[in-house]
Amino acid sequence: MTDSPKTALIDAIRPEIKALPESGIVEVVNYARLKKDLVPLWVGEGDKPTPAFIADAAMAALKRGETFYTYQRGIPPLRQALADYLSRSYAAKIDPERVFVTVGGMSAIKETMQMLLNPGDEIVVPSPCWPNVAAAAEIMGGVVRPVMLTFGNRGWTLDIEKVMAACGPKTKIIFVNSPGNPTGYMMSRAEQKALLEFARKRGLWIVADEVYGRLVYDRKAAPSFLEIADPDERVVVVNTFSKNWAMTGWRMGWVVASKQLGQVYENLVQYNTSGVPTFLQHGAVAALNDGDAFLAEQVARCAKGRDMVTETFSRLPRVRYAPPDGAFYAFFSVDGEDDARALAFKLVDRANVGLAPGTAFGPGAPNFMRLCFACSLDRLGEGLARLEKALK
Ligand SMILES: Cc1ncc(COP(=O)(O)O)c(C=O)c1O
Repeated sequence: MTDSPKTALIDAIRPEIKALPESGIVEVVNYARLKKDLVPLWVGEGDKPTPAFIADAAMAALKRGETFYTYQRGIPPLRQALADYLSRSYAAKIDPERVFVTVGGMSAIKETMQMLLNPGDEIVVPSPCWPNVAAAAEIMGGVVRPVMLTFGNRGWTLDIEKVMAACGPKTKIIFVNSPGNPTGYMMSRAEQKALLEFARKRGLWIVADEVYGRLVYDRKAAPSFLEIADPDERVVVVNTFSKNWAMTGWRMGWVVASKQLGQVYENLVQYNTSGVPTFLQHGAVAALNDGDAFLAEQVARCAKGRDMVTETFSRLPRVRYAPPDGAFYAFFSVDGEDDARALAFKLVDRANVGLAPGTAFGPGAPNFMRLCFACSLDRLGEGLARLEKALK
């Protein structure tokens, strides 16, 4: 036998799984995880723990014995709270029967890919994009067709015509992430309508990732497909508790889809994760019913962070940047630095700042860097001061 046992084992697994890339963000994090005094701005989360009123509700549920198997679709009070939250956030009346609770936004996306993609089916994904979307499709044998966003004076934009042109006979899904990670791109209502019309004509599914839908700076919420799609058409909207209420570690998200898919999502949840722990679901009810003020504070803090980034970058002539319309990332390039991955390592070594390289987000931004500004202004200020020194 010429191969080492390790190689032989790897070769024995499914090619789709073997081909999965290491996360380009985690690669940098692993390199620098133990570095002293590093300012971490690489991961998509803030630095505040979940607020006490949410944690307390989960702990009370845990203490009173909410520790059994439960509804795969989510406990009824949580589905009702989600419907209420969505109905007051958006110009749409959402029926709780259309809402399914998942293990994070990640499972919401993965289970939707499992539901829709046959091997060889194509999914059109505007890029750069959160990399887990492509990976979730590829695990199913789906083929990702990226469509590049472009960067200009107005920040990141997407040409909807290009999205439509990328749809061929094998296309099954158009994926839309608005506001977008890492770019902050926000799709307009008119663009959403045009895309929905196109998808209807072609019989395509739209999977809309709206996890940053409330993290916007000039309005209450980003335009949502919930507001224009009929309840029973080929539109699935995925979302998460992670970002709005500082709950990334809870692993809780949800799907809004047609009622007709209720049994399907119930089955997918059953056979993937068997659902979210019951006591956590009670915490999530508190987040939805009592968390509007916390969310408003988060948005206000992110807005200040965004201003701080804009002010610092305006002093750096090599930096190309436009403030994002939504989400909590600055996605910028530095003249003379063409390799984002190399720059990420360099900034760790020389400036002790952790950023995510654009190369981690699929094609389209090989020389861009992502900085998360959802943290405390002290931490952000320190990170920006170090960046300024390093990039001057
Ligand atoms: C665009 C986008 N979608 C979905 C998610 C999934 O969030 P989670 O699985 O933490 O709920 C993230 C997380 O960073 C994201 O950025």
